[in-house]
Amino acid sequence: MRPRSTQAVLAAASMVSVAVGQQVLNLSTIDWTLTSPNFSYISVPGMVPSQVHLDLREAQVIGDPLYALNEFNLRWIAYSNWTYTSAPLDLHKNASSTWLVFNGLDTFTSIDFCGEHVAATNNQFRQYYFDVSALLQSCDSPILSINFGSAPIIANATRAIPGQLAWPFGVQQLYEFPNREYIRKEQSDFGWDWGPAFAPAGIWLPAYVVQLPQQNVYVRNTLVDIYREGQHNFYAPDQTKDWVLNASVDYLGSLPYRANIQYTISGPSGDLLNGFLSNVTSEAGRLTGSTSVPDGAVELWWPVGMGQQQLYNLTLNVVDSSNTTVVTVTKRIGFRTIFNNQTPISQEQMDLGVAPGGNWHFEINGNEFYAKGSNFIPPDVFWPNVTEPRLRQLFDSVIDGNQNMLRVWSSGAYSPDFMYDLADEMGILLWSEFEFGCALYPVNEEFLENVAHEVEYQVRRVNHHPSLAYWAGGNELENLELPTVNTTAPDEYPRYLAEYETLFLDTIVPIVLGNTKSISYSPSSTTNGWQSLDFSKSQPIAQRYGNLTEGSIYGDTDFYNYNFTQLGNFSRYPVGRFANEFGYHSMPSLQSWQQAVAPEDLSFNSSVVMLRDHHPPAGGVNTSNFYNASFGQGQMTMAVEEWYPIPNKTDSLANFSAWCHSTQLFQAEFYKFQIEFYRRGSALPERQLGSLYWQLEDQWQAPTWAGIEYDGRWKVLHYVAKDIYRPVIISAHRNVTNNDLEIWAISDLWSSVSASVNLAWYDWSGNKLNISMDAATNVSIGAINGTKILSSNVDTMLQGRNAADAILRMDVSAQGSLPNSNTTQTFTHTNWFHPAPLSSSNLTDPKLELSKNNDTFTVKAKSGVAAFVWLDYPGGAVLNFEDNGFWLAKGEEKGVGYKVKSDTTGGKWKDAVTVRSLWNNTLSEGY
Ligand SMILES: *[C@@H]1O[C@H](CO)[C@@H](O)[C@H](O)[C@H]1NC(C)=O
Ligand SMILES: *[C@@H]1O[C@H](CO)[C@@H](O)[C@H](O)[C@H]1NC(C)=O
Ligand SMILES: *[C@@H]1O[C@H](CO)[C@@H](O)[C@H](O)[C@H]1NC(C)=O
Ligand SMILES: *[C@@H]1O[C@H](CO)[C@@H](O)[C@H](O)[C@H]1NC(C)=O
Ligand SMILES: *[C@@H]1O[C@H](CO)[C@@H](O)[C@H](O)[C@H]1NC(C)=O
Ligand SMILES: *[C@@H]1O[C@H](CO)[C@@H](O)[C@H](O)[C@H]1NC(C)=O
Repeated sequence: MRPRSTQAVLAAASMVSVAVGQQVLNLSTIDWTLTSPNFSYISVPGMVPSQVHLDLREAQVIGDPLYALNEFNLRWIAYSNWTYTSAPLDLHKNASSTWLVFNGLDTFTSIDFCGEHVAATNNQFRQYYFDVSALLQSCDSPILSINFGSAPIIANATRAIPGQLAWPFGVQQLYEFPNREYIRKEQSDFGWDWGPAFAPAGIWLPAYVVQLPQQNVYVRNTLVDIYREGQHNFYAPDQTKDWVLNASVDYLGSLPYRANIQYTISGPSGDLLNGFLSNVTSEAGRLTGSTSVPDGAVELWWPVGMGQQQLYNLTLNVVDSSNTTVVTVTKRIGFRTIFNNQTPISQEQMDLGVAPGGNWHFEINGNEFYAKGSNFIPPDVFWPNVTEPRLRQLFDSVIDGNQNMLRVWSSGAYSPDFMYDLADEMGILLWSEFEFGCALYPVNEEFLENVAHEVEYQVRRVNHHPSLAYWAGGNELENLELPTVNTTAPDEYPRYLAEYETLFLDTIVPIVLGNTKSISYSPSSTTNGWQSLDFSKSQPIAQRYGNLTEGSIYGDTDFYNYNFTQLGNFSRYPVGRFANEFGYHSMPSLQSWQQAVAPEDLSFNSSVVMLRDHHPPAGGVNTSNFYNASFGQGQMTMAVEEWYPIPNKTDSLANFSAWCHSTQLFQAEFYKFQIEFYRRGSALPERQLGSLYWQLEDQWQAPTWAGIEYDGRWKVLHYVAKDIYRPVIISAHRNVTNNDLEIWAISDLWSSVSASVNLAWYDWSGNKLNISMDAATNVSIGAINGTKILSSNVDTMLQGRNAADAILRMDVSAQGSLPNSNTTQTFTHTNWFHPAPLSSSNLTDPKLELSKNNDTFTVKAKSGVAAFVWLDYPGGAVLNFEDNGFWLAKGEEKGVGYKVKSDTTGGKWKDAVTVRSLWNNTLSEGY
């Protein structure tokens, strides 16, 4: 059984609204029937919140949508209408008013109540509410019926409306169902290059019937904005100022005369501050007031690794003129400033060696920091499937992976409150975005108005969360879509650019700035930033776009290149202030494939495996996309063949597993080199301050860019990223053209550390090579900075030795402390550099030995250097080892702890743990 309405329960916990005399009927507590006008024989129980696919699956009308090629077999669901009909609702006839409140309808509905048409809706991301008081008066059996139209059909019909905007060929990225840009529905529901296309429908978020007495209100949304006095979204806040707390409730019903807001801020040790908000105003269903909180009266909230995640409860009582409470709202808040700095590089910065141009980084409570993380995609194609425990497990892996920021990619759905709640508690910054991506969008009045409602609701809903870090307009618009228009239709570019600004600047900016002073905004995820600001205008931002000055550096970067021969060639990586996307895809593990694919299809290029590879995008809905899929499969295959011993196992399943694993090795190395490059940038003129790779997690079992598979299993990437996201690292940077080699020690701690460094060359048998290096051994590394340990040349160092039989081990050990901590700790890191590709290196059998006691597995390399030691465990359990995918020197022994996240094997997985290393690729037997 699916857990019933987890979201409803959790949403209630984060937005408690309690009032005397009102009745709120949670529509997840009543019975629903799901039928379709297209299929008279289907009538099954429905749920709220839910989606049609989930309810049909629960009723066993369909099989598992994620299995094999069911994506293609289930298109009929997306092409049909579906009706959710409630049992008669137990409502009062004597209420002063009765409202239907929907926190989310996905997407095109026609709503009937008491047999009468109430409304039609067309935006998955809006909250809708309807006054049905009059209908209820003359109604014997209050039944709610919601008919969902087919999103793909309606998208097509919208496209076909005369006068509708269209764009030059190639601008709109087509995944599977076309015309997603015309509708306000999760864009990846129509397919993406890492997921299937189901275009689900349903009442996907909690819904209520609210009945109110006279002079009573139901709070449907609440804005809390906390900022430093005088703070502005686009400038660094003054950290010495007091806090302003601005609160604003959106209500249904009628407020009593002279309503006021009484507030209490309470912390771990009880009530801290209370009183009445000042300057209370009421207009159009909204009651707003503010108060001042003295600097120092509250503790700051910090992201993980930078301090504590101090949270407070804010209670807002809406009171009448005799101070009697009408309604109470509680929000959990935190005090922090988070600023996305795009200001021009100052003279002071240039004096410190920063290249001119524009800043592009984040500042928490007035401090620069290095953002380490990844990009979050919808963790499930069916959001009602996403429970708090599932997200908690995923976020645990984020924390365990040394990540402090996620970019919540902009063509999924706005994150549920419980996701921000978890991030608030765990200290994960959520860069958030409006749901637009890889396309340009219509700008007719109806579309803009629809978006305006969506943006206002979402900005107000989530602004109180201290984990909310940023708002961006959409995905890759400035760096991909606009340049594509510019090349394909240069004459019309000014018009398309103006339309882009109509939506992402003229429409969205006033709403963001009108509701929050605490969060910065940019129209596009990847951007060269703003060029000038003029606050005398309603839309104050002028974007820089391509208006660049030679020698200056602007903005954040996005980098994809599938030329597999270029692994580790840093001359190709973009030099910017922040990297917000980069990556390469890999296969999931055999264990994940086994969840979704029949045994006979478990081979690299079986049609089932191939057709689950959606990169490059399929470009249509049918099963004839082998052509594109073969490119994606080929990119992975050729990368393995180029860089690693080619798996050729006798057993076909073992061979498949070895191939899947090898694609993960390539992926992990690909990211590692880039993360090292970006982190080194913190010490170079670009003053690079962020690395968010593509992508954190999977939403099905398929070849994708993810570091975490659908069930939570870590790929090699997530382990390697964890390692290279340590606070202090050592890394080798080789110029592939002339073999010049630099070695750097890099730290993102906020104070300088003293470090000792050790470099040593070995052959693969583990013998130390007599190569002397003119490297520093004791160095100091500045705050969020790097120190060059060695500058040399590989050929010079090897002096004619065979590069295939030489590897460099690098160790760093630093004394320092975490930000906002007085405790001195030792930070260590070990890294290996191999001058020859591993495919042509003289690997030797390291004779790995695995032993285990209760909570530790111990691996020893008995007779040689082991590359990419990999502890593997069977399906049925999800866990992560403390460390994996590491290298071992000859004779080195490593104890590895683990953390179990779920286990259906009753602990038996422990007996089935195996160990392998790259050497196993050379063997025809075993895995
Ligand atoms: C989510 O729902 C789909 C459809 O029923 C199912 O295939 C999948 O296993 C579910 N995932 C989880 C994690 O519950
Ligand atoms: C399907 O839904 C669409 C959009 O709501 C509506 O126009 C159409 O009449 C519906 N068709 C049926 C058969 O219910
Ligand atoms: C939508 O339009 C495309 C052509 O743009 C067509 O191939 C497809 O069949 C249409 N889909 C539906 C559901 O009508
Ligand atoms: C209330 O409004 C006045 C006048 O605009 C302003 O000076 C004062 O700071 C406001 N008080 C608060 C607590 O925001
Ligand atoms: C906020 O209130 C909830 C519910 O009463 C309580 O469990 C929690 O500990 C409180 N949090 C803080 C920070 O006071
Ligand atoms: C309501 O409370 C405020 C603050 O304590 C007080 O000033 C005011 O007189 C009260 N009003 C009534 C009607 O009691």
